[in-house]
Amino acid sequence: STPSTTRQSDNSFINKMKSSGRNIVVFYGSQTGTAEEFAGRLAKEAQRYGMKGMVADPEECSMEELTQLGDIENSLAIFCMATYGEGDPTDNAQEFYEWLQQGDCELSGLNYAVFALGNKTYEHYNAMGKYIDARLEELGGSRVFEMGMGDDDSNIEEDFITWKDRFWPMVCEKFGVEASGEDVSIRQYRLVSHDDTLAPEKVYTGEVARLHSYKTQRPPFDPKNPFMSQMTLQKDLHKGGDRSCLHVEMDITNSKMRYDAGDHIAVYPKNDSALVDKIGEILGVDLDSVFSLVNLDEDSSKKHPFPCPCSYRTALSYYVDITSNPRTHIFKELAEYTTDEKEKEMLKLIGANTPEGKEKYNKWVSVDNRNIVHILDDLKSCKPALDHLCELLPRIQCRYYSISSSPKVYPNSIHITAALVKYETPTGRINKGVATNYLQGIVPRPLVEGEEKSPVVPVFVRKSQFRLPTRPQTPIIMIGPGTGLAPFRGFIQERAYMKDEGKPVGESILFFGCRKKAEDFIYQEELDEYVNKGVLTMHVAYSRDQEKKVYVQHLLMDRAKEVWRLIGVENAHLYVCGDAKQMARDVHDVIEKIVRDEGGLAEAEASAYVKRMEAQKRYSADVWS
Ligand code: FAD
Ligand code: 2AM
Repeated sequence: STPSTTRQSDNSFINKMKSSGRNIVVFYGSQTGTAEEFAGRLAKEAQRYGMKGMVADPEECSMEELTQLGDIENSLAIFCMATYGEGDPTDNAQEFYEWLQQGDCELSGLNYAVFALGNKTYEHYNAMGKYIDARLEELGGSRVFEMGMGDDDSNIEEDFITWKDRFWPMVCEKFGVEASGEDVSIRQYRLVSHDDTLAPEKVYTGEVARLHSYKTQRPPFDPKNPFMSQMTLQKDLHKGGDRSCLHVEMDITNSKMRYDAGDHIAVYPKNDSALVDKIGEILGVDLDSVFSLVNLDEDSSKKHPFPCPCSYRTALSYYVDITSNPRTHIFKELAEYTTDEKEKEMLKLIGANTPEGKEKYNKWVSVDNRNIVHILDDLKSCKPALDHLCELLPRIQCRYYSISSSPKVYPNSIHITAALVKYETPTGRINKGVATNYLQGIVPRPLVEGEEKSPVVPVFVRKSQFRLPTRPQTPIIMIGPGTGLAPFRGFIQERAYMKDEGKPVGESILFFGCRKKAEDFIYQEELDEYVNKGVLTMHVAYSRDQEKKVYVQHLLMDRAKEVWRLIGVENAHLYVCGDAKQMARDVHDVIEKIVRDEGGLAEAEASAYVKRMEAQKRYSADVWS
């Protein structure tokens, strides 16, 4: 067959379902893997009800085939859809989303259900799930069960299990089937242990996708093919206190990677080797033995859960997440490997979807903040097979950072400004953030001419919507407490550069906030210099240098008249960056208040005014939680 027909049939989820006798397809729109994981669990659980499910990535499917799903008896499409940023779809759902928007197809034979994943601290909570749920109905689809909504800011695992345990009975009723009762544990992958005869060059050592891609680097660089970058500089930006904020410079010479001020850089981290070693020790496994996990479902496009073959050490270091709180379904499986009756009962309880189980999960796992290493450490008789554990744990995710440099000034490097994560858990353990501690542990090596490079950190650039105004004359207001300063350092560098070139540059005003001037006023010297050169106006809120907290929004309020002059009269662009939880919302409220008070608008008008600013990209937020 020609390549195009091969692709055609590869993309046909209908053919795949028909040939393997499946009736349920679970699509996912996933950025960080949670939606994909939930989709996998739903597909697997279908077996409990005598049905057969499969997971599908909308990016790899001809989604027009949804019109034909009705041809399959008792068929159902489930959508686990995450929402990102300003109500956007995930990258892998982008095309599907566009198709739905223009689509004039007829979906009358389609049975569907949606589970939405999002974060309540964002304004467009679960926008994608809501859109798909409503749109599929509009196109004639029939909703089998009400949409579930997962809130990642609270307990998305609980939202999910609560939803699906009401969802399945409804499906059973609709299709006239019954639960087969037993909650059998079904493995998705089988273990292949490789003996020493396997040539070392056939074994993955941490690559995200292609074997040897870290040694033989080939542009273009993207999430599946990251660039190996050399860290040329690292320093702690804090001058006192017990916290650290890292300034890191990553070399991108000859990478052909381009970036703009405001873009993000992604870092693929490595787990702490002390944690990895501890798992090997507890389970008594030689971490250097090489294995593969091979999908038992031969029709699946996903042959392995992560690049295989690899050693257990590689899997635990680069591929699986060993530091998050494990989700409930893992506890059921762990119970099967536990000999002590009391420990077994507790694991079963946590894995059970009962009020007591949820309470126990909440306390013992979420609040006490246990990761898999803590669990194995606390439950001495729990000894899961390591390959099964690797199958159950989610894939480790890359971490994003707002690039804190301008390509005009630093075309060959990308700067990162990252708060080091390190804290004590209620069980008295010290948890270390994966990526920030990985970065901190790397010894920087300046580039030396004639010397070979030492690339170590896999990175790629992700374009963002966070952009300086096209016209340099446009004034900008930047609001960024803490590490929220990161992208603004790039903005300021860029505006200073343009000014040096003799371009007419508008006002650049920064509202920065930190705890204490003497401790965490990051980049103070640089910023002072820009102020002295007349490139920057700066207002700093110190929250802990005096009795009463002073935050950036208080300083905005103090300067309400000026802020209104800038946004209301001079068409300034306003930017907010930093922790999503409270600050961005508080700032938003204060800006609305200023528009009301100074612009003389009524409440509804003021909020419409700010909405318009957002639509025109005159109000942009780059926030994370
Ligand atoms: P992880 O191993 O991921 O641990 C972090 C988790 O630990 C938290 O989610 C929380 O659950 C838990 N935790 C942390 N502190 C505590 C505590 N005190 N008590 C209990 N639990 C706690 N970060 C920056 O520093 N600078 C940036 O410029 C930046 N830009 C970003 C841009 C985007 C678009 C996004 C999505 C995120 C950005 N982040 C930025 C956040 C960054 O991606 C990482 O999430 C952060 O560095 C932590 O990663 P880590 O692997 O070190 O920690
Ligand atoms: P705090 O920790 O003393 O409360 C950077 O983290 C700065 O942002 C700190 O000075 C921090 O103050 C402050 N901050 C915390 N919550 C905030 C909020 N809701 N709005 C604005 N700034 C906030």
